[in-house]
Amino acid sequence: MSEKGTYYITTPIYYPSANLHIGHTYCTVMTDAMARFKRLLGYDVRFLTGTDEHGQKIQKKADEAGVTPQQFVDQVVEGIKELWATMEISYDDFIRTTEDRHVKRVQEIFKKMYDKGDIYKSVYEGLYCTDCEAFWTESQLEDGKCPDCGRPVDKAQEEAYFFRLSEYGDKLLNLYEEHPEFLQPDTRRNEMKAFINQGLEDLCISRTSFDWGIPVPIDEKHVIYVWLDALSNYITALGYPDDPELYQKYWPADVHLVGKEIVRFHSIIWPAMLMSIDEPLPKQVLGHGWLLIDGGKMSKSKGNVVDPVVLIERYGIDALKYFLLREYTFGQDGVFTNEVLLRRMNFDLANDLGNLVSRTVSMIEKYCDGIVPAAKGSDEFDKELEEIAAAAPAKVEAQMDKFAFNMALEEIWILVRRANKYVDEKMPWALAKDPEKKNDLDTCMHHLAEALRVVSILIYPFMHTTADKIREQIGAEGEVKWEDAHVFNFMNGNKISKGEVLFPRLDIDKELAELEALKGAQASEEVGAAEGNIPLELKPEIVYDDFDKLDLRVGTILKAEKHPNADKLLVFQVKMGTETRQIVSGVAKDFTPEEMVGKKVIVVANLKPRDLRGLESKGMILFADNGDKLAMVSTDAEDGNPVT
Ligand code: MSP
Repeated sequence: MSEKGTYYITTPIYYPSANLHIGHTYCTVMTDAMARFKRLLGYDVRFLTGTDEHGQKIQKKADEAGVTPQQFVDQVVEGIKELWATMEISYDDFIRTTEDRHVKRVQEIFKKMYDKGDIYKSVYEGLYCTDCEAFWTESQLEDGKCPDCGRPVDKAQEEAYFFRLSEYGDKLLNLYEEHPEFLQPDTRRNEMKAFINQGLEDLCISRTSFDWGIPVPIDEKHVIYVWLDALSNYITALGYPDDPELYQKYWPADVHLVGKEIVRFHSIIWPAMLMSIDEPLPKQVLGHGWLLIDGGKMSKSKGNVVDPVVLIERYGIDALKYFLLREYTFGQDGVFTNEVLLRRMNFDLANDLGNLVSRTVSMIEKYCDGIVPAAKGSDEFDKELEEIAAAAPAKVEAQMDKFAFNMALEEIWILVRRANKYVDEKMPWALAKDPEKKNDLDTCMHHLAEALRVVSILIYPFMHTTADKIREQIGAEGEVKWEDAHVFNFMNGNKISKGEVLFPRLDIDKELAELEALKGAQASEEVGAAEGNIPLELKPEIVYDDFDKLDLRVGTILKAEKHPNADKLLVFQVKMGTETRQIVSGVAKDFTPEEMVGKKVIVVANLKPRDLRGLESKGMILFADNGDKLAMVSTDAEDGNPVT
């Protein structure tokens, strides 16, 4: 075990109802930065993320896509994992709530709560939408109607299990009182206190109106309410209760990082559940703000999301991570615009950091044959730079303790900007002209390389690829160690190797226009992408030869009438070029004979003739199946022509 101890940090588990957008990315990027930071400090870190795959909403999405819920989530989860791989998110475990390990453990947790006497069966009363088969609460309704389909809802009841949440109000208030750090920021804690003071009601924790969920272990016609299922992930992923090795090592969690709208679940239901099963509570729940766009929260349904992949492809992972961590203040909402992003990239990354790297490397090449010299003496400017560098690691640590990622980066940028100013103060180009000033020039080059080495360590948790690139260019070898950021006398004899420009300066107007154009292009692809582009469930694959056996022809319906012996059938006389033939189709409920006359259709012309209720049918007309009604498949080609 590491000297520093363990550090267990989690993100919420995301709903795989659609691809993730930059708002989700924000939480995961913060968690990743903190996990990497703690690892660098020497903690034994466990970073958990995952997906919350059950529930009526997912079931509905799958139905709409014509696939099973499992197929639906498998597809979306694959995309989520790909996104995290692209963003180099360093999670140690990814839990899916459909995994066996989770399902069986949630059932055990349910049983423990039941055995404790904290769960009872009763009747759930709610507002029910028959079309969506969903219960809603008054506050979830939109204009008094179902928020999903907009239809009226009715009062309805179903049998359900309840958790005695009402018994935990005082215990939760005590928890907040004794451990104010449990729930941060303070504003969120005050909101929760007010919520509890209104009186907690028992929580309905099972449903019978849909079945995409974990069965209640004592009553299989019920499935467990998604939040009980989802919140348990933080301990089921550690093996609780049957495989407790990881659990004993990492639980209680140091921090659950969650968005502000789900703080309530994490700071009321989750600790109450843990109290019920007599397990320790997480040390901290931290609620972060939202990234807003167009004045509101990003959401797929509003169609105002920003796709992180587009930005990564254009500007790189580190630029995006830097922006998310630097721009927004933890706990508060922030507005995302492309312009703010581009400005940050130009000012902080291209002008400040990128420029410092390229000018340092070029000067060491030019003035010192590409070898970092040792320092020889130091004047007031040198000393000031040394002092700022020496103070930086502790300042970064202090900000990270508060999850103030933006301020931690600001502390690092104070050093970056100071180093740039140092170049202007020392004017190495002037020192280089005077052989007497060689020692001074060497100290200057040494200090710049040192400053960059320290910066490379400090930025490592936030942008490790950039850190590695800087280290390569200044010839800083070996493993990145946090303690090495405290020492300002490492560089001596390191070989410089000039590399690519780290962050090219961007033409903001041009980029804005191109991003806008991409948004248009993306919107038109949205339909497939948004739903995770779920493949259709098809009949077994065929080869071209199979298809080639069909002889499809264009036909004109000359005559249509009802079948004398069958209500469901219509009898058509169809002209295909030189030949007119009789075709009988089961489409009487979808079309009147009159509307069919004159229509051009597509006919399977070489189908073996059949007798249908006494009339011969020579071929088959194609129709599209619109669910409850057929639709025409028409063409304006000449009849008799082949369809290939
Ligand atoms: N499945 C639940 C969480 C269960 S945790 C036991 C859930 N999933 S979610 O996919 O809807 O949201 C996951 C997280 O993404 C939430 O913390 C939410 O706040 C965050 N965000 C979603 N949109 C966001 C923004 N626009 N901005 C910042 N975070 C956002 O809730």
